[in-house]
Amino acid sequence: MPAIIEPYRIKVVEPIPLTTREARERSLSRAGYNAFNLRADEVTIDLMSDSGTGAVSVAQESAAALGDESYAGARSFYRFHEVLSDLTGFPHIFPAHQGRAAERILFGALLTPGKITLSNTHFDTTRANVELLHCEARDLPCPEAADLDSHDPFKGNIDLAVLEQTLAGPEGDKVGFVIMTITNNGGAGQPVSMANIEAASALCRKHGVPFLLDAARFAENAWLVTQREPGYEDKTPAEVARAAFRLADGCVASLKKDGISPMGAFLATHDPELASRCELILTATEGFRTYGGLAGHELDRLAQGLREVLEPDYLRSRAAAAAHLAQLANEAGVDVVQPPGIHALYLNAGRLLPHIPPGRFPGHALACQLYLEGGIRCVELGSLYLGTLDENYELVSAAPYELVRLALPRRVYTRSHYEYVAETLATIAKHPESVPGYRMVETTPILRHFNSRMEPVHM
Ligand code: F0G
Repeated sequence: MPAIIEPYRIKVVEPIPLTTREARERSLSRAGYNAFNLRADEVTIDLMSDSGTGAVSVAQESAAALGDESYAGARSFYRFHEVLSDLTGFPHIFPAHQGRAAERILFGALLTPGKITLSNTHFDTTRANVELLHCEARDLPCPEAADLDSHDPFKGNIDLAVLEQTLAGPEGDKVGFVIMTITNNGGAGQPVSMANIEAASALCRKHGVPFLLDAARFAENAWLVTQREPGYEDKTPAEVARAAFRLADGCVASLKKDGISPMGAFLATHDPELASRCELILTATEGFRTYGGLAGHELDRLAQGLREVLEPDYLRSRAAAAAHLAQLANEAGVDVVQPPGIHALYLNAGRLLPHIPPGRFPGHALACQLYLEGGIRCVELGSLYLGTLDENYELVSAAPYELVRLALPRRVYTRSHYEYVAETLATIAKHPESVPGYRMVETTPILRHFNSRMEPVHM
């Protein structure tokens, strides 16, 4: 087997700041030990998000130069629409400026107060948009997801038994929709099998409940299906993605991920009546139906990105880079949620830092240490984000796991950058007991992780 290499070379580069330990200590202290308060020019390797952070291609930039900025009916819209219509098969497709805007519009048109929505795991903005409509967002992850170390191939699946019970049970008529997040970002980036999507779709049809996809990482999910699901080894990622979209009644997707562009999203449905309700909200709050809050050049950049993201050589090399970093992290003594997905690796900080109790936020401690040691920015997914706190900001109930997400921007970092990340992890893992915990000193009632100020507590 020849080595797997990136199917592109670098043409335009952007310098990254190399900083000193002293400068990073000052920056993080000024930022209240919250990476969201750092300036990007204080960060060497930015693994905070894979959203809007991918590198665009020459073909995308030349497509963008053709962007048609007409108010209505721009050529750019028709190029964007053609790619998505071929991919998804939906007759009604609307652009939106980002995923959460698409969620607000589609959910607003589908839900009434008191409804319940079911998902393998709602992403945070998805949950927030459900809750803002006075509905309940309920996660039904499959039981395999609870074992962080097992190598089950599809730990992103929905629990079909609980889904069926809920749809057939006394709350069945309160279910507004089922939304499947592919890949499951809130569930450690694990993929969802086609068998699970098919079965969930069939249950929804049987019970007359709309079945939606949150398809932000549809191409990466499709790639993992070709690699892990029997019967799909000879399919292309485009064939798998097409088949997945055809099982859904509607979808939302942030295209800041698998559109490989800084901005963009879409929503889609088969239902003409629902489409016209969405169109009204879209026009009132985002923009006319042929631009939905995006410029013509952005629609063209997205149309081209959506073609490139399904290329097998690209997906193969991206998956290999994630697996390589996961292996280096494990060799450095840091466990990663298994099996590694593609868009991010989830480090088991609770296991690495057993001297830090959940109330002193081990995930946050590891994220801060990665910045202090190596200028690497990432965020925790643990009790700081998901736990409940009392009025003194002390932890009342902990998150089930204390994780840190290393999100991997598309086409941005090279193997030597990832080796540097692994070396930094190895330095931390040599003396984990020296890593301090953190106490919260200031926060806001909602969206706590964006706004908290913290201080170190030596353990
Ligand atoms: N759905 C999923 C599964 C997501 O991961 C995101 C964003 C959204 C919806 C919302 O899309 O940002 O375009 O409004 N995830 C980013 C992340 C922020 O870092 O995981 P958006």
